[in-house]
Amino acid sequence: MKAQLVTLVAACLLGTVLSDGSTVAWCYHLPSCNYTTWPTKIPHHCSGARQSPVNIVTADVQADPSLTTFSFTGFNDSSALLNIKNADGKSVMVSLDDSKMSVSGGGLSGLYKSKQFHLHWGNGSSSAGSEHTVNGKRYPMELHIVHMKSTHPSMTVALDDPTGLAVLGFFIEATNDSSTPEMWKNLTSFLLKISRKGDVVDIKNQITMDGLLKGVNRTRYYRYLGSLTTPSCDEAVVWTVFKDPIKVSQDLINLFSTSVYINTTAQPLITNNFRGVQALKGRVIKSQPSSATTPYEALSLTAALLYYLL
Ligand SMILES: *[C@@H]1O[C@H](CO)[C@@H](O)[C@H](O)[C@H]1NC(C)=O
Ligand SMILES: *[C@@H]1O[C@H](CO)[C@@H](O)[C@H](O)[C@H]1NC(C)=O
Ligand SMILES: *[C@@H]1O[C@H](CO)[C@@H](O)[C@H](O)[C@H]1NC(C)=O
Ligand SMILES: *[C@@H]1O[C@H](CO)[C@@H](O)[C@H](O)[C@H]1NC(C)=O
Ligand SMILES: *[C@@H]1O[C@H](CO)[C@@H](O)[C@H](O)[C@H]1NC(C)=O
Ligand SMILES: *[C@@H]1O[C@H](CO)[C@@H](O)[C@H](O)[C@H]1NC(C)=O
Ligand SMILES: *[C@@H]1O[C@H](CO)[C@@H](O)[C@H](O)[C@H]1NC(C)=O
Ligand SMILES: [Zn+2]
Repeated sequence: MKAQLVTLVAACLLGTVLSDGSTVAWCYHLPSCNYTTWPTKIPHHCSGARQSPVNIVTADVQADPSLTTFSFTGFNDSSALLNIKNADGKSVMVSLDDSKMSVSGGGLSGLYKSKQFHLHWGNGSSSAGSEHTVNGKRYPMELHIVHMKSTHPSMTVALDDPTGLAVLGFFIEATNDSSTPEMWKNLTSFLLKISRKGDVVDIKNQITMDGLLKGVNRTRYYRYLGSLTTPSCDEAVVWTVFKDPIKVSQDLINLFSTSVYINTTAQPLITNNFRGVQALKGRVIKSQPSSATTPYEALSLTAALLYYLL
């Protein structure tokens, strides 16, 4: 038991490199380094004023007409998904070809290039695993596509810009069908090949981002300014959280918490790799005006009311 504990702590020591060059241990699975400890261990920036994730209270969301539709480039290109990796024993990450994939519009200030996507999960399809929550509801998983403002030369520079990154978040909901959607069956078939920390396999020409986002209406989303959800929690993210979840079968969701490990040894599995929700601290979450409040319809409604009043 003791030997195992030492091994686990060592895993955490390969933590985040801070700006002064020192490293700090962080993890999801031990009380000594889980997310409740990040604000004190890594105060810069994990104790900041615009941290993520957050709980989205739909009754408090404000309409913002500047939240127009997105333009997605390369999301239909299977050569843009390069490889899949057991990322430091903390998540599963797919590297993206940023010369092929990018996003603009959607109220963003310009073009953002796609760098990678990764996932957060709990411990199986009936367990909570998303980072953002909606009216307190936590979904089984959440997918994050990380984009960097195209004018920045490096991630280091982007992390110093309050809007240097644009992350697109998608909730994943469990369904009772088996092995669906097809693209998720394809993606999860690689998990057993990346069971150990650091494992990487090529996935080129097999999967498209559009295929993974099947069924999501990408014109309906929440917007707020926040941070990375892992140390050092840099406050550089324009967050987009889509309202529609991706529907994935339970059997495929279960593969995440049963296939990939935090180390090169057999235990433990990566589970519950999500951060708890952070205080809004005065921030307001925005979304598109609902169709009922478009000027034309608001006018018609007023006309109708007047008619009845008169
Ligand atoms: C992972 O396992 C290896 C091999 O057993 C061990 O030497 C190492 O200390 C462990 N590392 C971490 C980061 O837990
Ligand atoms: C995180 O660690 C704290 C103690 O530091 C513990 O009380 C809490 O239950 C842990 N939470 C999770 C989700 O592991
Ligand atoms: C992706 O969509 C664009 C725009 O509709 C189209 O021009 C392009 O040929 C498509 N690419 C692939 C790989 O299907
Ligand atoms: C996850 O669930 C499995 C079985 O469903 C259980 O054995 C295991 O202890 C759970 N892991 C955690 C970290 O709760
Ligand atoms: C799946 O089926 C089980 C049992 O048949 C049922 O309890 C559960 O509500 C169903 N879940 C969904 C998401 O439909
Ligand atoms: C994934 O999809 C590609 C393209 O449709 C196919 O060639 C490949 O065999 C699939 N891989 C798996 C593991 O299902
Ligand atoms: C997506 O949502 C928008 C706004 O609610 C709606 O106008 C549009 O018809 C929807 N698209 C699809 C394909 O359902
Ligand atoms: Zn994430």
